Formats: sequence, C-alpha cells, structure tokens
Amino acid sequence: MRVLLTGRNGQVGWDLERLLDEVVATDRGVLDLSDEASIRKTVREAKPQVVINAAAYTAVDKAESEKDLALRVNGAAPGILAEEAKRLGALLIHYSTDYVFDGEKKTAYVEDDPTNPLSVYGASKLEGERRILASGCRHLILRTSWVYAARGKNFYLTMKARRGQPLRVIDDQRGVPTSSRFLAENTVLLINKNVEGVLHLVPSGATTWYGFARAILGEQADITPIRSSEYKTAARRPANSVLDNRKAQALLGKPLPDWRAVFAAVG
Ligand SMILES: NC(=O)c1ccc[n+]([C@@H]2O[C@H](COP(=O)([O-])OP(=O)(O)OC[C@H]3O[C@@H](n4cnc5c(N)ncnc54)[C@H](OP(=O)(O)O)[C@@H]3O)[C@@H](O)[C@H]2O)c1
Repeated sequence: MRVLLTGRNGQVGWDLERLLDEVVATDRGVLDLSDEASIRKTVREAKPQVVINAAAYTAVDKAESEKDLALRVNGAAPGILAEEAKRLGALLIHYSTDYVFDGEKKTAYVEDDPTNPLSVYGASKLEGERRILASGCRHLILRTSWVYAARGKNFYLTMKARRGQPLRVIDDQRGVPTSSRFLAENTVLLINKNVEGVLHLVPSGATTWYGFARAILGEQADITPIRSSEYKTAARRPANSVLDNRKAQALLGKPLPDWRAVFAAVG
C-alpha cells in the first residue's frame, strides 16, 4: 500500500512515518498546504493509494488573528487533497478535532452530534471536514483531542518543563488526552480493516487539564485548579469536548484503553 503522508515533522506524522512500510513522507518544504499547486503536484507525482493528512495549522490561539491562513491550511487544503484523492481513487485519511463542538452537551460527543465551533481553529477544521465530504472521495475523518507526544509542542511537555514550580491549571474543561502513538497505531489498524467514514478516535475515559497535569507531575506537585475565566486565552474552548469512542471500538473490534494507561506507556 503506497501512502502519501503530510506533516511528517508533526506529532502524529512523526509516529505514522515510523509505522508505515511504503510511504512518501512530506514536510511543508515539499507539500505546502497553503499552496494549491504544491498539493496537486505532489499528489500527482506520488500516485498514492492512501493519502494521510497529518499536517494542519494547530496554533489554536494564534488562529484567532490568522484566520485566512488557518482556513487555507485546515479548510481549503483538505478539499484539494480530497479532489486529488478522488481522481486517483485513493483513500484520504484526515484528522479533525473535538473543537468542532461547542461543549454544551453534558455527555460525550458521538460522531453525528451537531457541530458548533467556538474558535477560528475549530471552524477551520470543520470546513476541512465539509470539503472532504463534499468532494465525494473515499475518506476516513478521525476526530481526536488533546494530542501529546514525547516530542513536539504539547501540554505534556509544557508541564514537564515546569516541574517544581507552582502551577495554576484549568479544571473546568473536560477532554481526552491522546498520544500521537495511539493515534498512529490505530490509524494503521483502521486502514487495514478498510474502515471509512467519520470516527472519534481517542482513548477511553476523560479528565480535565488539571487532572492531566496531576497525572504528569504527580500528587505532590504544587498545582492549583482554576476556572477558564481565570486564564484568558485568545480562543474560546469548549467546557466539555469528551469524544465518545464506542464506534471506533466496534470497528476496530477491540476495547480502547483508558487514557491513563495510554499515558503510562509514553510518560
Ligand atoms: N495537537 C492537538 O492537541 C490536536 C487535537 C485535536 C486534533 N488535532 C489534529 O490532529 C492532527 C495532527 O496534529 P499534531 O498534534 O500532530 O500537529 P502538530 O504537531 O502541530 O504538527 C502539525 C504539522 O503540520 C505542519 N504544517 C503546518 N502548516 C503547514 C503547511 N502550510 N503545509 C504543510 N505542513 C504544515 C507543521 O509543519 P512545521 O513543523 O513545519 O510547522 C507540523 O509538522 C491535525 O489535523 C490536528 O488538527 C490535534
């Protein structure tokens, strides 16, 4: 199976490249998602059977002041990849986000719950989903959340770097921490099972950023739980963005482990 991968230096792209056998792995120097010609040329040259789009504009707060770029990379580019995948009869695998939801639901979000993003980033990712669906290409859209890895830029590494310092961490946003390794491994399993559609791919269980910080730094660390209103950010985030992974478990034919077990394997 010939795979074209975008975002090879990102958290998920990095793990995917190492799990795939026959892969053309690209960074933005080769395939720039803000440049339509670069996308079309690279896909046509590689002639993949599967395109995995692991690249994205992921700076959630910065996106509020860079709306055009976020929309080009997260909204328009997936649509162009989808058109090219359709020409080839290839499967497009694309990652989306829990931030397509507004967080008002009291329980975990299932795949066909109504979307209503609160941020430019969330809206740009939702636009990417819409363009892929509108293209009619074979697709697997994997919504995930709170991605971390032992490399890259993420909450886990930010907390580790502040070990020993007093910290204030938000305790009124719930979600599911997800390691890039978990995502990459289960993406490969889903490809092998020929799964298509929209799927929530996260470990089981849920926590808050405060709970995640406790798991990272331990019970002895000096961490004060705070409310979102006490920590101003440019982008609004949903209070509840827990994704329900039961459809993924059914299609994978296995239970997905609790986020703490997944974290134990990384941290
Ligand atoms: N991180 C999260 O918490 C989170 C949560 C939910 C969903 N997701 C989704 O999961 C997927 C993977 O996220 P991740 O955490 O692995 O992201 P990441 O670590 O931030 O990596 C994103 C990658 O995209 C590349 N990129 C950015 N702009 C580009 C452009 N114009 N052209 C080509 N490449 C470009 C970056 O390249 P450079 O290295 O050159 O900057 C980087 O390698 C994304 O679709 C993201 O939206 C992530």
